[in-house]
Amino acid sequence: MAAKGRLFGLGVGPGDPELLTLKAVRLLKSARVVAYPAAKGRKGNALSIVEGFLGDDQLRLALIYPVTTEVLPPPLSYETVIRDFYDDAAGQVATHLEAGRDVAVVCEGDPFFYGSFMYLHDRLAGRYHTEVVPGVPSIMAGAAVLGAPLVYRNQTLSVISGVLPEDELEHRLAGCEAAAIMKLGTNFAKVRRVLERLGLMDRALYVERATMAAQRILPLAQVAPEEVPYFSLILIPGPPWQEA
Ligand SMILES: C[S@@+](CC[C@H](N)C(=O)[O-])C[C@H]1O[C@@H](n2cnc3c(N)ncnc32)[C@H](O)[C@@H]1O
Repeated sequence: MAAKGRLFGLGVGPGDPELLTLKAVRLLKSARVVAYPAAKGRKGNALSIVEGFLGDDQLRLALIYPVTTEVLPPPLSYETVIRDFYDDAAGQVATHLEAGRDVAVVCEGDPFFYGSFMYLHDRLAGRYHTEVVPGVPSIMAGAAVLGAPLVYRNQTLSVISGVLPEDELEHRLAGCEAAAIMKLGTNFAKVRRVLERLGLMDRALYVERATMAAQRILPLAQVAPEEVPYFSLILIPGPPWQEA
C-alpha cells in the first residue's frame, strides 16, 4: 500500500515574501500540493505571498471559504457554515494525503495564531503525519513597521479580537498594560469609541496591510471607518521601561 502523504501547516508571514522562514520555503517548494484559503474568484493573501516560490508542476488547491459574517439571521448560523466549510476542506486535503501526496497548507502570519490552518489541524493531525512551521505574526510585523517596542520587562500583552461586543472590549481593555486589537474591518468604529472612552487614543497606533505593498500607517483619529480593511490592527505598546 502506498505511504500516505504528509501535512504541512506553513506560516507565511504578514505579507512581505522575504519574511518567510527558510524552512517554510523549503517545505513549500517540495510539496506536491499547495493548499490555500481564498474567497471565490480571489487568489487569497497567503497564495499571493508564496506564489513566487512555486513551480508550474505543483498542484494548487483552493479552499474556497463562504462569504459570511459572524452574525447571521436564523436559521443560518456562522458556526454551522464554517464547520461545513472546514469539514469539506479537510476532506479535499485528505484525498491528496491518502493518495500519498504531501500537502502544504499556507497560512497568513502564524498558523496557530488565529490561523485558518488550526481547523484543518484539528481534523487531520490525528490521522496523518503533520508538521507546523511558525510564521511571523501580524502583531509583530505591525510593531516592527510602527517602530513600537511592545512589551518591556514584566508587562502583559492582551490580544483582543475587535469582533467582541463593545462592553466586553471595554472590560478587557480597561487597565491593560499593552494590547493588540485584531480583526478590525467593520468593527473599527466600535473599537475606536471604546479607546476614546478609556482615554487610550494617544497610546493607540493603527496599521493596515503591514509589510504588504499597500501598507498604510495613519493616526487613529484620522482613519475613515468605512475604509478600514480586514488586514488591519491597533497596537497599544506598553509604557517604555525607565532604566535606573
Ligand atoms: C484570522 S487573523 C490571522 C492572523 C494571522 N494568522 C497572524 O499570525 O497574524 C486575521 C487578522 O490578523 C490581522 N492581520 C493579519 N495580517 C495583517 C497585516 N499584514 N497587517 C495588519 N493586520 C494583519 C488583522 O487584524 C486581521 O483581521
